[in-house]
Amino acid sequence: MKEYATLTIDGKELKLPVIIGTEGEKAIDIRSLRQETGCITYDPGFANTGSCKSKITFMNGEKGILRHRGIPIEQLAEKSSFVETSYLIMHGHLPTRKELTRTSIMLNDQSMVHEDMQFFFQNYPRLSHPMGILSAMVNALRSFYPEIITTQEEFEKVFIRLLSKVRTMAAMSYKISRGHKVIYPRTDYTYCANFLNMMFDSPVNPYRLDRDVVKALNTFWILHADHEQNCSTSAVKTVGSSQANVYASISAGITALWGPLHGGANQAVIEMLTAIHKKGVGISEVVEKAKNRRSSFRLMGFGHRVYKTYDPRAKIMKKVCDKVLPKLKINDPLLEIAKQLEEVALSDQYFVDKNLYPNVDFYSGILLRAMGIPTNMFPVMFAIGRLPGWIAQWKENMDDKEQKITRPRQIYTGLNKSPYIPISKRDSDSEDDSDY
Ligand code: CMC
Repeated sequence: MKEYATLTIDGKELKLPVIIGTEGEKAIDIRSLRQETGCITYDPGFANTGSCKSKITFMNGEKGILRHRGIPIEQLAEKSSFVETSYLIMHGHLPTRKELTRTSIMLNDQSMVHEDMQFFFQNYPRLSHPMGILSAMVNALRSFYPEIITTQEEFEKVFIRLLSKVRTMAAMSYKISRGHKVIYPRTDYTYCANFLNMMFDSPVNPYRLDRDVVKALNTFWILHADHEQNCSTSAVKTVGSSQANVYASISAGITALWGPLHGGANQAVIEMLTAIHKKGVGISEVVEKAKNRRSSFRLMGFGHRVYKTYDPRAKIMKKVCDKVLPKLKINDPLLEIAKQLEEVALSDQYFVDKNLYPNVDFYSGILLRAMGIPTNMFPVMFAIGRLPGWIAQWKENMDDKEQKITRPRQIYTGLNKSPYIPISKRDSDSEDDSDY
């Protein structure tokens, strides 16, 4: 039986349909609200607003659940590869062996980057942040691949192209930023092994792939693969809703991800932990500062809009750190500081009352550091991982007949109608209009 919510305003009663998702989540369908009552809703940050119906990812923030296409993140992180998880997110089902092989072949075919793109890197100022460069490069892909996507097959090609080339571009940008020779992708390496090799191999010092590091990178990217309607995914969909091309939309996602409250948090966490380590600041002093409302400082890597318990991705990331660092014989003092910080914060009433727990970014930077990834590339690592989610969500939005161009309303709080006053009358001392 259909459920309704009743809203009464100005003595008028409105029956609003209730939509129920497959996991029992309820939403009030307010699409008729403005037309029927003249009212809009007020929800800064859209914390209570559902912008779409989606079959891709399910999250329950109270219980710490994350599933892609129904499969728990814990199982994917343990058993899957990033390429397989990307396929799952994009296509809605796990690939058969044949489908996975075909995907790997296509990824290899698309792995090279047009040589002209090297000019972008070479002409960027040396101190540019890699996220700014990546966003511009992805936008530029449209000029290299201008075809309009009309069929499922063409879309599949674009998905593979982005997944493969963005990885190559990221490694290439790192090599060029260091003034080193660019290492080309190899067809005999898997997706993650290829990235590590392009980053760290060199003619004078060949890179030795470590099975556990490759596995850890797979896990890192699986943990970032999608996270339903987050800030960057919403940016991708907002740009896509104007029918801008997929490259422009993904480029917007990269820009949105860059911020320290979102994907830039992994870099911010390491900068925070490094500062604590170098200055020898006490853990409780840091926690006190994060609680102080007069200070703008926040405990980076803590808190989440949706999770009101421990982020399931952070749990896995912490375990991976505990496995990989000893394997690489790395004794990173930042891991110890992070654990101490977590312990103090989790027993502090402020953090308990506000349900602030470590999020995925709290431990991810420590893992990336151990792999040798430079700190300013951490958000780029997040961006590569989030590609399958962005592209799948962009496509789902395009195919959804209920979607429209994104265009929120506002409550105007400015001046009421006011007359234009000529400049000569605005200032009683001024007598000429010579500015004109
Ligand atoms: N340290 C100290 N206080 C915090 C923190 C924090 N990390 N996060 C939230 N709070 C406080 C905040 O001051 C506010 O207090 P009050 O109610 O007294 O004003 C309350 O908790 C609620 O915070 P909010 O900013 O209203 O919550 P939000 O849902 O808008 O923001 C967040 C979520 C992730 C932006 C925020 O928790 C934050 O800034 N965290 C640090 C940055 C970070 O780690 N970002 C990565 C998020 S996970 C990766 C991703 O998917 O993007």
